[in-house]
Amino acid sequence: MTTIPTNVSYEGLGEEVVGREREVELLLAALQSGAHVVLEGPPGTGKSTLLRAVANRQHVPFIFVEGNAELTPGRLVGHFDPAQVLAQGYTPEIFVDGPLIEAMRSGGLLYIEELNRVPEETLNVLLTSMSEGEVHVPRLGAVRAAEGFCFVAAMNPYDSVGTARISGAIYDRTCRIAMGYQTPEAEGRISELRAPDVPREWRLKVIELIRSSREHADIRVGSSVRGVIDMIKVADALARTRGVDVSDWHLGLDAATVALSGRIRLHESTTRTPEEVVRELYEAVFGREPREDDDSSGEA
Ligand SMILES: Nc1ncnc2c1ncn2[C@@H]1O[C@H](COP(=O)(O)OP(=O)(O)OP(=O)(O)O)[C@@H](O)[C@H]1O
Ligand SMILES: [Mg+2]
Repeated sequence: MTTIPTNVSYEGLGEEVVGREREVELLLAALQSGAHVVLEGPPGTGKSTLLRAVANRQHVPFIFVEGNAELTPGRLVGHFDPAQVLAQGYTPEIFVDGPLIEAMRSGGLLYIEELNRVPEETLNVLLTSMSEGEVHVPRLGAVRAAEGFCFVAAMNPYDSVGTARISGAIYDRTCRIAMGYQTPEAEGRISELRAPDVPREWRLKVIELIRSSREHADIRVGSSVRGVIDMIKVADALARTRGVDVSDWHLGLDAATVALSGRIRLHESTTRTPEEVVRELYEAVFGREPREDDDSSGEA
């Protein structure tokens, strides 16, 4: 079963997705082979960006579902319109297709974000659709997947609440592509695309700072490139309101604290506050707080 024509052009993908050539290649190969795929990686590693870009280039319907605790089997599969049931009874015409049935009937790509947050009984429905290519809906009957139907999910390994529940049964029915953090060069290009223009030297330091949050002993989960984007945006806005340069030491610390202190997840054992940890990271990259008397006049 070939789901995606092998001659589809993926040119131009590089304009939306920075780097990730290898992951793009692996994802396309997996989809072309008709496999279901799980993309697994920390937040902000570009899983959604990659999937959307690939899906936009396929000439197959693309159905997007946000995975969360409210995604019940009924929401995924669909329901009979209650008002019409009263008038007509349970006839197939009044069934409102949920995303799964829509993707199955149309031979589309069903994309579920945050798979690890999906309730167990909903995962079970997905399992059947994946292995049997068919689901049984009460009062509607069996719905078979049209050729081309496939399922792609993104999940975050640090979301430990849910991840444990992703059963071996799901993993056994899917191919897995791991996404790690982007390279420093890719983070540079992503920040150029998504954040205001700032001096290059300073931008590189922001990237260094954010990357160091992934290595710090007190931090369980560091910041993704989203932290780079936000720190630059906040600093740029502060520079305008304060009428100083983005490279101002205090401005940078304020921007780093706003952009990072809520993002980093500290180990439970640490007694330090996120603000303290952010300041330590900041000082390691941008240097100690300049003393009042050694300003740029050079007379200190
Ligand atoms: N390779 C990339 N090319 C272009 N932009 C990227 C890339 N990776 C990440 N980004 C940008 O970084 C941000 C986070 O990316 P994205 O939402 O794709 O991550 P994710 O892995 O889906 O995160 P989550 O697990 O939190 O859903 C977005 O603003 C996105 O535009
Ligand atoms: Mg995502």
